[in-house]
Amino acid sequence: MNNEQLREVVRAAVRAPSVHNTQPWQFVSHLATSSEVDAVEVRADRTRSLQVIDPLGRELHMSCGAAIELARLAVRAIGVRCEVALLPDPADRDLLALLHLGEADPPTEEELRLHASTSARYTERGGFDERPVDEALREKMRLAAAEQGVWVLYLDRPDDRVSTAVLLARADDIERANPAYEQELGDWVRDQAEADEGIPVPALAGRGTRASSYRLREFLPDGDKVEPPEPSAVPPEAEHPLVCILGTDGDDPAAWLRTGQALGRLLLVAAGEGVSAAPMTQVIEVPSTRSMLTANLGLLGYPQIVLRMGYGHGSPATGRRPIEDVLRDG
Ligand SMILES: Cc1cc2nc3c(=O)[nH]c(=O)nc-3n(C[C@H](O)[C@H](O)[C@H](O)COP(=O)(O)O)c2cc1C
Repeated sequence: MNNEQLREVVRAAVRAPSVHNTQPWQFVSHLATSSEVDAVEVRADRTRSLQVIDPLGRELHMSCGAAIELARLAVRAIGVRCEVALLPDPADRDLLALLHLGEADPPTEEELRLHASTSARYTERGGFDERPVDEALREKMRLAAAEQGVWVLYLDRPDDRVSTAVLLARADDIERANPAYEQELGDWVRDQAEADEGIPVPALAGRGTRASSYRLREFLPDGDKVEPPEPSAVPPEAEHPLVCILGTDGDDPAAWLRTGQALGRLLLVAAGEGVSAAPMTQVIEVPSTRSMLTANLGLLGYPQIVLRMGYGHGSPATGRRPIEDVLRDG
């Protein structure tokens, strides 16, 4: 693979979702000759980690896992074999993955289709249409995650949805009572639409348009000071999103990376069919609500991320840092 192709791969990888759009990754190329790249390291950039909500780096690993999967699909779309080794060096825990680039190997149609959805995927914080996500797509998303050994639980039982909604709200209350949480969140919200990191205020537009039973993370400090509606006002239409939980049997860096890879692939499968998602991770960040979620739903293993999904109306609205900031030669 030549250098221009490598830049194309990294441009696709950085479109991955990341917690607060922190983009906590670095890519390092290994050169076989002066013009031929034969491997790429994906490294954690812990200077961009979130100490308050993510002290163990669980979400950092998930974000980088998604970038690894988008990079792998971009390599495949170029028609090059790609083997991913997770955490290949026990003495270097920041080296999250080594992508070995092999011989020419034509991509499958599915790989091309998934890669083509990279620029369409985005986080939707507005309301979803009434149209339900059908069974065939649910099964495709489940299989996409299963390839990485990650399970997907769809919350179809009303009781499960209600108990999860209660825990999401409780986690939000607990986090927002901590001034350090508000401070960290504020550090990653940007006023300018063209910001190349963090969450620009325009990406939050639409968050007031839904009547959702699921409390989403409120990124703006005055978000709860919404004027009460007129008593005579017609209530907003309620939405009924698909809610699912991705989880793993273990709870260590390898499991977090695999969750991220599964998330990246699942979101591309969904985006290809016009379905978008909003992660709701607060309930997992707070240890007490995470264990209550596990107990309430009778989960065998560790929930890693909760997603609210459906047919939305938004479009990609977050920026990315320039390639020069995240790619260097080894
Ligand atoms: C591990 C992880 C956790 C996230 N948690 C939340 C969340 O709790 N609430 C939310 O609104 N978005 C959440 N997001 C979405 C990010 O904010 C989003 O990916 C980022 O701002 C980039 O925007 P994009 O997905 O539209 O490209 C999360 C993303 C990841 C990867």
